[in-house]
Amino acid sequence: MKTFIFPGSFDPFSLGHIDIAKRASRLCDKLVVAVMINRAKKSMFTVEERVEMAKICLRDVPNIEVISRESLLVDVYRELGASAVVRGLRSESDFRYEAEMNAANTLMFPEYQVIFLPCRADLAFTSSSIIKEVAYYGGDISRMCVPEIEEMVKQKLFHKQQDM
Ligand code: PNS
Repeated sequence: MKTFIFPGSFDPFSLGHIDIAKRASRLCDKLVVAVMINRAKKSMFTVEERVEMAKICLRDVPNIEVISRESLLVDVYRELGASAVVRGLRSESDFRYEAEMNAANTLMFPEYQVIFLPCRADLAFTSSSIIKEVAYYGGDISRMCVPEIEEMVKQKLFHKQQDM
């Protein structure tokens, strides 16, 4: 049983994330999408909301499970007896960041293995941050995420404005 982990902050889950998750799910028996904390980023959505978003986006793929963990990625790797972690690569800047994370994770757990999948070319320059930025200014995010996520982003921004 080959289990891969696709970890990320997924704030929100984008078309790029869906593409990587679906392609990765074909390379293993089970793909665990792990919603995790990136301490360098301030999240718009709660962990529970991000789990819900990932489940909505991937509900048609039977060998994908969505979990959340507030721990080190290598601890999740050990816990699940994973064979590899999958990360999408968009650009050279992604590579630098990924190489640093990979080095740290390998130092902590030498069996740690990462697989990089190149992002779909037409999605290579979108990101969760861009989705939030475009949505904040009322721009069209319909080609960056599925309609359910678009609605959740709009709702979140609407409620944030109400709170201000
Ligand atoms: O989608 P992101 O924000 O690029 O994902 C980064 C993430 C969540 C995978 C990374 O921050 C992470 O692994 N967080 C858990 C804590 C950890 O293990 N950090 C890596 C040590 S270098």
